Amino acid sequence: MNPTEKNVVNIIDKLVVDGDLSDDEFLFLLDFSDSKSDEYLAVKAASVREQIYGKDVYIRGLIEFTNYCKNNCKYCGIRRDNNNATRYRLSEDDIVSCANTGYDLGFRTVVLQGGEDPYYTDDMIVSVIKRIKNNHPDIAVTLSIGEKSKESYEEFWRAGADRYLLRHETANKDHYEFLHPEEMSYNNRIKCLEELKKIGYQVGCGMMIGSPGQETKHLVEDIRFIQKLRPEMVGLGPFIPHKNTEYAGHPHGTVEMTLRMLSIIRLVLPEVLLPATTALGSVDPTGREKGLKAGANVVMPNLSPSGVRDKYLLYDGKICTGEEAAECISCLSNRVSKTGYNIVTSRGDHRDFIK
Ligand code: 5AD
Ligand code: FES
Repeated sequence: MNPTEKNVVNIIDKLVVDGDLSDDEFLFLLDFSDSKSDEYLAVKAASVREQIYGKDVYIRGLIEFTNYCKNNCKYCGIRRDNNNATRYRLSEDDIVSCANTGYDLGFRTVVLQGGEDPYYTDDMIVSVIKRIKNNHPDIAVTLSIGEKSKESYEEFWRAGADRYLLRHETANKDHYEFLHPEEMSYNNRIKCLEELKKIGYQVGCGMMIGSPGQETKHLVEDIRFIQKLRPEMVGLGPFIPHKNTEYAGHPHGTVEMTLRMLSIIRLVLPEVLLPATTALGSVDPTGREKGLKAGANVVMPNLSPSGVRDKYLLYDGKICTGEEAAECISCLSNRVSKTGYNIVTSRGDHRDFIK
């Protein structure tokens, strides 16, 4: 074993025992881990995950209900200025019927995700939440509709929304400003996450791995941010370029770095819900399976109607855009089973696992 490898293994052992490292140790681990120590790290993370969640994998049904967006994030394929995107919106009835289909397929969580689309007023969102909850009181409704006012978040909460996903994208303000147009504010992003937590939502933050301008030190800042916020979920996947953005030629984030970060987050926040993301499955045909083996415990199959699937394209090469919901879920169940884990249909509330 050369000295570097030994150092990395020592650092991993320390992370397992302490659930934390110094900034320099995190930097060292992220920069110098190799395939052997990555495997070691993944095994440790999977073992912590199994102590808490056993072999269970939770499913969240993703309903991508609009790809209109008023924002212009530089990396995103549905950014406002992408005139090549074919835009669509689902009606309230369509969204509710998608949730019904999901329920019948065994989903007890639906995620309503969309671009920031002012067409959907707060009243419409409230009405959709109430209709889904009325039909299926045991379903968890997760919103992923971006930055809203505190009042809107409170209204959605009163209507019955349980969870909210809002990736922070990067915890470094300069890097955030690099990735976003001037009209978007890092401080507001963070404020939104804090408000959501305070209201009582189970919150998911997250970031892309290998996004343009990202340095290893930014990932350490992400870890520190996550330790402070203590979200119930962390969504992380590789950055993947989209052909109609200025980052078209930028390389995608690596599977290795994404898995490394998944394992680290698992060890830092043992009970956190960690999805093996579609983006990870899009850069590597078995990426999600690798994610599950590195500490992830959630998968998020697509429930959107097949007619709109191929239009919610945040990045190029997205998987699962041609399948019907039922096909996608059975494909995913098979894939999960092959890893030795099992999909379960319970809601998988984070708080049930906190000691
Ligand atoms: N590659 C990977 N992930 C992306 N997202 C947006 N654009 C891309 C891209 N090009 C992620 C962002 C956003 C989430 C819904 O999708 O992190 O929060
Ligand atoms: Fe969607 Fe395989 S997981 S088609």
